[in-house]
Amino acid sequence: MQKNLLSHKQSFYLTFANFAHCLLVLKALSFYLFQNQISHPYHAFTYPHMKRSKIAGIGYYVPERTVTNNELTGIMETTDEWIQERTGIQERHYGKKHLETTTSMGAIATRIACERAGIGLEEIDFIIFATLSPDYYFPGCGVLLQRELGITHREVGALDVRNQCSGFLYALSIADQFVKTGMYKNVLVVGSEMHSMGLDFSTRGRNVTVIFGDGAGAAVVQPTDDPQRGILTTKLHSNGTYAEKLAFINPGSHGGYHFKKLGEEVDFGYPPEDTYGEIFLTPKMKEEGLYYPNMEGQFVFKMAVQKFPEVIREALSEVGLTTADISMLIPHQANLRISQFVQKTLGLSDDQVWNNIQKYGNTTAASVPIALTEAWEAGKIKEGDLVCLAAFGSGFTWASALIRW
Ligand code: UT7
Repeated sequence: MQKNLLSHKQSFYLTFANFAHCLLVLKALSFYLFQNQISHPYHAFTYPHMKRSKIAGIGYYVPERTVTNNELTGIMETTDEWIQERTGIQERHYGKKHLETTTSMGAIATRIACERAGIGLEEIDFIIFATLSPDYYFPGCGVLLQRELGITHREVGALDVRNQCSGFLYALSIADQFVKTGMYKNVLVVGSEMHSMGLDFSTRGRNVTVIFGDGAGAAVVQPTDDPQRGILTTKLHSNGTYAEKLAFINPGSHGGYHFKKLGEEVDFGYPPEDTYGEIFLTPKMKEEGLYYPNMEGQFVFKMAVQKFPEVIREALSEVGLTTADISMLIPHQANLRISQFVQKTLGLSDDQVWNNIQKYGNTTAASVPIALTEAWEAGKIKEGDLVCLAAFGSGFTWASALIRW
């Protein structure tokens, strides 16, 4: 056994000296961190060496064809009054069948965003594509977009995000992380939806169908050396408890599993156990229209008006700002009544909130970048403004982002 060479007194002094040394190092470190702080001690303290990312260019595209509420009254039992009163929507855009897709619309928005960011398409280092209405079940729209843009030669990574209404914000947050760490310089973030190809245009589907529209938005995320600008924070949340309250469950490989666990027996027309396959899409699903999106509207509404303000306040409090500091709130365009409710809850004026659901309906992952671009084009977002993006939707998933423009 080794003999203890230090007396109690000596080890006490040694421990004390070590402790004092540690304190000195910590003090020097914190001095260095706060000298280099970006906008708020939280970031500086946690990620002193990281860059800040900014949105360098944005663009959007909506298909040419406008579909008014009155046009829909010709194919299902609904009225212009009902739609406007409950949602604020007056019209939406539908893509050209066989000629336009989620990917092709995303490509148009991308070209605009890249041009405004001052980069060529071949300079894109990474693609993040958010959609719930992909061209194919797989592969995702990210690779299809790469091909559509003619930039496959660089073989950059492409990632698809399946977070519905909050998809663009999740994608933006991912881009932010990649840019901040210095991994990529030009990350393309796209949100695009071609809802009109997969909706139930009979009266059975009217509560969902009248709400949705087609469109795409894109943003190029780049690093910035300007400590006053860029994405200050992003906040992401989800809770799968109510996954089926707003869902597109068929076709799918779930085989009724989740419904059984929830104690709900739903007959999807599955074949006997001893047959192979035939779970994904059954004749019954086709005959009874069980392959459309469905929504418990009021339930979703109640969650939305709770989570929007919550996630916005969370972001503000993290960077030490308040709702009064918001220059422009771009909420996901789910329902004008939801946006108005959120506006009132946060005490924002009409000038602080951008709404365009009246013209486009709910374009899910595309709604935030479309609204952001539109507000920017209208001159309502200027350099130095504090822009807040927020979304809530199926999953449930919800998110917010704060950007010093
Ligand atoms: O973007 C993702 C997140 N989505 C949302 O946040 C959407 C949240 N929910 C909503 O926006 C609203 O709940 C809806 C706009 C979807 C529906 O409005 P609502 O005021 O909640 O209506 P409701 O679903 O409670 O339906 C009320 C009535 C029903 O008739 P009865 O049972 O009272 O006779 C529906 O059948 O309205 C009927 N209805 C319609 N009537 C005419 C449902 N859709 C329509 C329609 N036209 N399109």
